[in-house]
Amino acid sequence: MPDDAAAMARAFVRNRAHLAPWDPIRPDDFYTEAGQRTRLEQVDAQRRTGVIERWVFDRGDGEVYGHITLNGIELGVYLNARLGYWVDAALNGRGLATAAVSGVCDHARRQWNIHRVEASTNVENFASQRVLGKCGFEEIGLSRAHLFINGKWTDSKLFHRILHTDPIAPV
Ligand SMILES: CC(C)(COP(=O)(O)OP(=O)(O)OC[C@H]1O[C@@H](n2cnc3c(N)ncnc32)[C@H](O)[C@@H]1OP(=O)(O)O)[C@@H](O)C(=O)NCCC(=O)NCCS
Repeated sequence: MPDDAAAMARAFVRNRAHLAPWDPIRPDDFYTEAGQRTRLEQVDAQRRTGVIERWVFDRGDGEVYGHITLNGIELGVYLNARLGYWVDAALNGRGLATAAVSGVCDHARRQWNIHRVEASTNVENFASQRVLGKCGFEEIGLSRAHLFINGKWTDSKLFHRILHTDPIAPV
């Protein structure tokens, strides 16, 4: 998986301004192949323990045009995971995030029998809130000073989508 380190670095360089309002301030090496390789090796180690999965948006040209992750995958009685995503600025408004979020929710249920997918967005991230709304997520609250984003503590709207509509507990 660290094989896409160079493409990830190029994607983050291209999308630096696009992602900056919603991301932590990144160290300089975040925008380099070496920095991305280190980061992806850490993700890969977590992936082998089953707590995270990631997918990239790919057009077959060796570049990365977006990214979607399930973090904090927890099985047992909770069957819960947290969602994160971004799409290349040049490809926004074509329904890519909506299709990916829906597809990953379906996959989470099929692959791990996940019951609940959580997401949060900055209170001002209206595009992301719209994506979640289109994908059947419901807003469940406001978390004040939720994430340290772009140099300050910011409020987030919390969302979830319940994947098992059947009230009987899955086995
Ligand atoms: C948010 C993001 C993932 C959306 O990706 P996308 O592929 O453009 O999303 P989609 O095309 O599937 O849907 C976007 C929807 O938001 C709407 N939208 C866009 N900007 C909007 C705004 N300022 N206010 C309200 N709605 C907005 C679009 O019209 C569309 O809704 P529609 O289909 O009803 O017209 C992308 O803009 C992005 O990567 N942003 C930066 C990173 C980020 O915010 N990640 C999510 C963190 S929670």
